Amino acid sequence: MTTITVCATKGGVGKTTVTANLGGYLADHGAKVLIIDADVQPTLSSYYGLNGPPASHGLTHLIQSASTEEAISHTGISGLDLIYSDDPEGELQHWIARTPDGRFRIRRALESIQNDYDFILIDTQGAVGGLQDAAIIAADLLVSPITPEMLSAREFLRGTVQMLERLGDLQYLGFERPPLIGVLNRMDKTRDAKDIASQIRELAAAHPELEIRIAETAIPATVAYRKAASIQMPVHRIETSRSGPTLSALETMQRLIKNLGIEITLPTREDKA
Ligand SMILES: Nc1ncnc2c1ncn2[C@@H]1O[C@H](COP(=O)(O)OP(=O)(O)OP(=O)(O)O)[C@@H](O)[C@H]1O
Ligand SMILES: [Mg+2]
Repeated sequence: MTTITVCATKGGVGKTTVTANLGGYLADHGAKVLIIDADVQPTLSSYYGLNGPPASHGLTHLIQSASTEEAISHTGISGLDLIYSDDPEGELQHWIARTPDGRFRIRRALESIQNDYDFILIDTQGAVGGLQDAAIIAADLLVSPITPEMLSAREFLRGTVQMLERLGDLQYLGFERPPLIGVLNRMDKTRDAKDIASQIRELAAAHPELEIRIAETAIPATVAYRKAASIQMPVHRIETSRSGPTLSALETMQRLIKNLGIEITLPTREDKA
């Protein structure tokens, strides 16, 4: 089982979009996948429709009882399960802060289901805090979307360093910070976007101690992502061929999976057919 946490210190950069579509892609290719909505605003929770009634519990139970029991809902995408967010008042942040092992609760809960899933993907909110820490501590790999505006490029490095420094003291508890892969998202074809993309790559290369890598493949800005969300479908199902030089969503997901070093060794649905 591989746990991937999608995090960023900025809002609106595509965390939920990336989580939902990576999850949908992996599930469509035969993997057993669980997506966890660890954002107070439950966008991921309703991204795909549910197959059957929702589980009686969600994120609050996962964290407070360090257990996934009765907290797993099934989405309409075969092979894709969900733990929904149920903390509209943001009380979990406070609960985690005043609970000595609060930040380790997601990690502990997931240990009990490591044989049930190939991948667990956790979506987070774009703000530092105990909940984001808990999601990062549970991860084997961090994926951080970056949009190529200047502000975002600077914020990316400053914010990411800050976000990871919060976890620095945890090394004394035997915890190792997972590596982080930045993924450029919503890339348009302007020169500006390209320049900023290479600036981010250079910045990351200049700080090898941070273990930050920028994925080779960038996710282009296309209407398919919004369209896919509105019809509750993984984007690779609806955009399967290129328009001009722009990568299709299917190709983008295929390449991104490779960039992230993810192996899907299971037979795909096409192979089975
Ligand atoms: N590659 C893309 N091309 C076009 N639109 C995109 C792309 N990626 C994301 N979007 C759109 O950008 C908006 C923000 O994306 P998303 O909700 O995934 O960001 P987020 O980081 O999860 O935001 P928040 O911080 O509010 O949780 C959405 O409307 C989404 O459809
Ligand atoms: Mg989101």
